[in-house]
Amino acid sequence: MAGMIPEDIINDVRTSVDIADVVGRYVQLRKAGKNLFGVCPFHDEKTPSFSVSESKQIFHCFSCGRGGNVFKFLMDLENLSFPDAVRRVAEFSNIPLDQSYFKTAKKSSYSSEQSALIDLYEKASELFSHILLNTKLGEDALKYLKDRGMTEADIKDFDIGFAAPEDNLLLSFFKEHKIDQRLMADSGLFIESENQTLRDRFFNRIIFPIKDANGKIVAFSGRSLVKDPNHPKYLNSPETSIFNKGKVLYNFSQARSEIIQQKTVILYEGFMDVIAAHRASVKNGIATMGTSLTEDHINAIKRVADRVVICFDGDAPGQKAIARAIELLRQSSDLQISVVFIPDNLDPDEYVEQKGIESFQSLMHQTGESSTSFLLKYDRTGLNLANENDQLEYLKKALKRIGSLRDALEQDLYLNQLSDEFDIDKRDLKDQLRESVADRIAHAPNQFELNEQTPPPPVPGEEQQVFNQNIQKKLSQVDISEYRLLARALNNHDVWLKLQSLPNFYFPTEKLETIYVLASGYLEKNHEYNVADFMDYLKEDELQAVVADIESINLSPEFTEEEIQDYLSVIENVAPLSEQISDVKSDLDEATRLGNKELQQQLTLKLIALYQKQQQLQQ
Ligand code: CTP
Ligand code: MN
Repeated sequence: MAGMIPEDIINDVRTSVDIADVVGRYVQLRKAGKNLFGVCPFHDEKTPSFSVSESKQIFHCFSCGRGGNVFKFLMDLENLSFPDAVRRVAEFSNIPLDQSYFKTAKKSSYSSEQSALIDLYEKASELFSHILLNTKLGEDALKYLKDRGMTEADIKDFDIGFAAPEDNLLLSFFKEHKIDQRLMADSGLFIESENQTLRDRFFNRIIFPIKDANGKIVAFSGRSLVKDPNHPKYLNSPETSIFNKGKVLYNFSQARSEIIQQKTVILYEGFMDVIAAHRASVKNGIATMGTSLTEDHINAIKRVADRVVICFDGDAPGQKAIARAIELLRQSSDLQISVVFIPDNLDPDEYVEQKGIESFQSLMHQTGESSTSFLLKYDRTGLNLANENDQLEYLKKALKRIGSLRDALEQDLYLNQLSDEFDIDKRDLKDQLRESVADRIAHAPNQFELNEQTPPPPVPGEEQQVFNQNIQKKLSQVDISEYRLLARALNNHDVWLKLQSLPNFYFPTEKLETIYVLASGYLEKNHEYNVADFMDYLKEDELQAVVADIESINLSPEFTEEEIQDYLSVIENVAPLSEQISDVKSDLDEATRLGNKELQQQLTLKLIALYQKQQQLQQ
């Protein structure tokens, strides 16, 4: 059993960081009013309802209701135990912690079998690297990589290795290490024949480890050294319980901090492109596993970036893939999209190699083409605009594109371009645009995203909805007064003392009363109220979330006597009532015990009347 971490150490660790810095590694935050806002990492959403208060050192999501301090954030997001969350923050601030606090098994989001797979991949990766860098077997592969411009630093940064052409090297290696046969069969690193013997899946291939968002190896991809029509250029591990091609993004773990800093992610088609860009110090690049983008990929991207730059191959399939990616990104996100075109029919990796690092950097520093401008060009593919029919077809497509834009200014810009290019009166184009839009709404309402249909983001301000939406539906006048009063009491000692001086006061809502009672204990010990610290004191998730809710109420800085009195009178209308109810209840019990039927009936009627009154007040 691990020793408990002493409270003062927990406190030191918590106050050593700014919650915004920790949350900011996972969620892109933007200042709005006195808080920071971002897209909630705990559920899917398009508009940000997740807030972080730097002054209070807590987070809170208006939409899903989660809330707490920095430890709670890491516990929920990384599925950590409390001590592990403390350890994580301590690591962040370089505070050494006594290891004896962490003797219990480490909790992670992977099961023990999955962790065993990851350990196995780690071992395999070490062998592949060793073969590439230190053995004769790897010489040709190393030369191949160097000829392609790859540096030793690249090889180390991406843990690149080589699976030798030698017979079943990995198999012998694992057998020597007495690795469990079943684990080997499940790993996808081997091909199992009918009589259940195993042989290496990867041989004579450059090996790229594929890592999850936390940098753990979950699969491999191998590139053939030679051009051979009988073998695919790239061979991937088969999907397992921890490897899903539709979810994983190559280099995401390594690029994450750069992506967050720049608020921008660059999407490439291939691993080699990501690596070449990294060599050119463009480090916010990722790639899919050669598959098209999925909604899961986009969800991962939009948590960390505002903008996606698509940098695919300059050839025809590349252009088609760009158009598809743009469409999907538009459907599933509000991300800004731009396209960087790589000239001379090169892919980014070839461009770096042939034109040099500086030339690539300046290409990437350009703003790129807007997605609409790209699509308008793409729509011309295969059409001959000198031909009237083709021209008409193009105009129709173009108007459809322009009609789907949300920004009126942008619409105008492209209408002007069309009008200039084809010498058509802009008013005619506009009429046509209205028709095509109306047509589309009539025929495909679900595919057409109207601006008005998107709910506005919860911008903080006076009229802001302060409670989590689940609670808000049920909130009565009394609830609101209770929340506000507790918010005042916690944050203002005069209000606190006033409540304490009222002999019969209590919060009718049980959770709020619990928090109030716990706060008394907390304040006796600590003299001063500190939300983030109080959260640790509360321990229970549910109570922490309620406190986060309370703290997110937008109250004016100063309170008035009158305001407090108002809350009290609303609440006390209920409080005596509930007292009356419990009084009548105990009388009724007594009457039942005595067998006084007449009194029983009378009291029952009285009780019903009280319940009705209570209900009316709570509506
Ligand atoms: N890919 C794949 N299977 C193939 C070919 C490609 O899975 N048979 C995937 C790989 O993830 C690869 C990406 O598609 O990184 C892009 O393919 P391609 O453009 O052909 O590869 P490059 O990145 O240009 O690789 P190289 O420069 O090594 O030829
Ligand atoms: Mn290439």
